[in-house]
Amino acid sequence: MRPDGPAGAVRPGGPAAAVEPDGPAGGAGAAPAAAVEPAGPAGGAAAAGPGRGRHGDPPTGGGRPGDPPPNGGGRHGHPRPTGRHGRPPLRVGLIGFGLAGAAFHAPLIAAVPELRLATIATSNPERSRRARERFPQAGVVPDADALLDTADELDMAVVASPNRFHVAYGLAALEAGLHLVVDKPVAASAADARRLATAAEERGLVAAAFHNRRWDGDALTVRRLLDDGALGRLFRFESRFERWRPVVDVKRWREQPAPEDAGGLLFDLGSHLIDQALCMLGPPARVYAEIARRRPGARVDDDVFIALEYAGGVAAHLWMSHVTAQLGPRFRLLGSRAAYVKYGLDPQEAALRAGERPDTPGFGREPREGWGTLGTDAGVERVETEPGRYVAFYEGMARAVRDESPPPVPLADATRGLEVIEAARVSAERGAVVEPATG
Ligand SMILES: NC(=O)c1ccc[n+]([C@@H]2O[C@H](COP(=O)([O-])OP(=O)(O)OC[C@H]3O[C@@H](n4cnc5c(N)ncnc54)[C@H](OP(=O)(O)O)[C@@H]3O)[C@@H](O)[C@H]2O)c1
Repeated sequence: MRPDGPAGAVRPGGPAAAVEPDGPAGGAGAAPAAAVEPAGPAGGAAAAGPGRGRHGDPPTGGGRPGDPPPNGGGRHGHPRPTGRHGRPPLRVGLIGFGLAGAAFHAPLIAAVPELRLATIATSNPERSRRARERFPQAGVVPDADALLDTADELDMAVVASPNRFHVAYGLAALEAGLHLVVDKPVAASAADARRLATAAEERGLVAAAFHNRRWDGDALTVRRLLDDGALGRLFRFESRFERWRPVVDVKRWREQPAPEDAGGLLFDLGSHLIDQALCMLGPPARVYAEIARRRPGARVDDDVFIALEYAGGVAAHLWMSHVTAQLGPRFRLLGSRAAYVKYGLDPQEAALRAGERPDTPGFGREPREGWGTLGTDAGVERVETEPGRYVAFYEGMARAVRDESPPPVPLADATRGLEVIEAARVSAERGAVVEPATG
């Protein structure tokens, strides 16, 4: 069964959203913490007690009351394999096996010994076949309802469905007592994202937003350069996620204009760029945006510019576009001592789409020809790009559940990003600079 719309019950049958995987999706990066934990607008409203059960039960290792004792037999008497620390891996149910589910979540989950990809929900025969072939240890069920019906055999749910179902599936998973990961954008509004965070908090469950691009290699590099003061005083932070895709495929769910679809590039790529900027620079004082539809037949935005103004004088300029026939630099940072300029996208998405495993040596490393440059017109040096590590998100998720550490990307961070998106929309409508609301 598929929910019909935005947040709500999970059951009602709904419009079939598009099924084709997104095109060469990913692109620009996101940028988090140099190490693994992004600094950034911290806050972690969501995860009120990782590892605690739904009603404040003590940690169970698996995170939910009633779990079998560590290393004991499974619920149905089957022994469960153990993870790296001798505890059974957390069992993960994945809702959706399109681009995000198949290329990102499933291989990343499978690469973390503390997690086990237990169930995959897809109704599509070809996707079911691929899921069984690539992840033979996982059961395949037709939809989110079927997956949640077996919630007592799971510890965590991952929502990788079209945007309009994120909140409904997320709430249903929390209601079933599961820790939660929701892909971006977490919701079509900051208010809905807050509802999810509150539901997780009330149940003492860990909930996180999949802002994987915090762990893009170029974003990690920018983070390191800023931390090291390599640019001197930062004046301007430019970040682009541009593509040349001038033809609209109107059937795709991302091209639908209903507000609950959260379609268009501002929600899609903007979620990444805004999250990176907030992570590195903190919340902006003011927002200005230009939001356009350029492609013939487009019903959603496909060419967006956002300016974030910071109290200290730093300006962050973000571009996301489907109509860029020649791409600008992915990052260009201007400082009082030097500039850093970096072209090209983080290699992880392309590698994952090609079937590379994220736990193979060298995964996420960028070849020398892709590295950015640091310096001035008088001379520049090549700066090795940090290895990208999307898998850090799921390592963080396992830690958050097991050890009650903060979730890798708290829902509060995603909510702040949505507040900036909402401010950008108001700005573009009014042609004015606006202050983001904070809930
Ligand atoms: N973080 C990233 O880098 C990244 C990259 C790409 C996408 N995403 C996000 O991931 C989410 C999914 O995007 P996608 O590109 O993977 O989409 P997609 O290729 O269209 O796949 C959507 C998947 O969701 C499933 N689904 C579950 N409930 C559904 C329902 N009620 N109606 C329609 N489909 C339903 C589909 O099931 P069937 O298989 O049964 O059709 C399909 O497997 C989006 O929120 C997107 O923004 C994130």
